[in-house]
Amino acid sequence: MYSEKVMDYFLNPRNVGEIEDASGVGTVGNAKCGDIMRMFLDIDEAGIIREAKFKTFGCGAAVASSSMATELVKGKSVQEALQVTNAAVLEALDGLPPVKVHCSLLAEEAIHAALWDYAGKKGIVIQGLKKPKEDIHEEEEELF
Ligand code: FES
Repeated sequence: MYSEKVMDYFLNPRNVGEIEDASGVGTVGNAKCGDIMRMFLDIDEAGIIREAKFKTFGCGAAVASSSMATELVKGKSVQEALQVTNAAVLEALDGLPPVKVHCSLLAEEAIHAALWDYAGKKGIVIQGLKKPKEDIHEEEEELF
């Protein structure tokens, strides 16, 4: 049912954790399944993502998706990171079952939310980046 890549990224997730004083932090959640994901990005002066970490309270596919997303954005420019969509995450994971596709969407939203936070802190506009949905409740915040 799950690809070997998904199982690998679920059982041995890369980049778990957080970045202190991150350039951008984004937290997103899916109201239906209740899973939540927080993404931390460290972005240098040239706008290149040097480090990416995540914390996910959710299903295995969400853990694998967020881990893969952090791998995919590392070394990319902010603009290039916008191309790390759920389709890109899905492809890199060799697919997910249809009922789990929304888990990869959460990874895309987490990247966007972290980039949005970065842009706000820097006072810049990232072309093509939309404001993320804010659906994280306070009690869920305590998980982190
Ligand atoms: Fe909702 Fe995976 S079941 S993120």
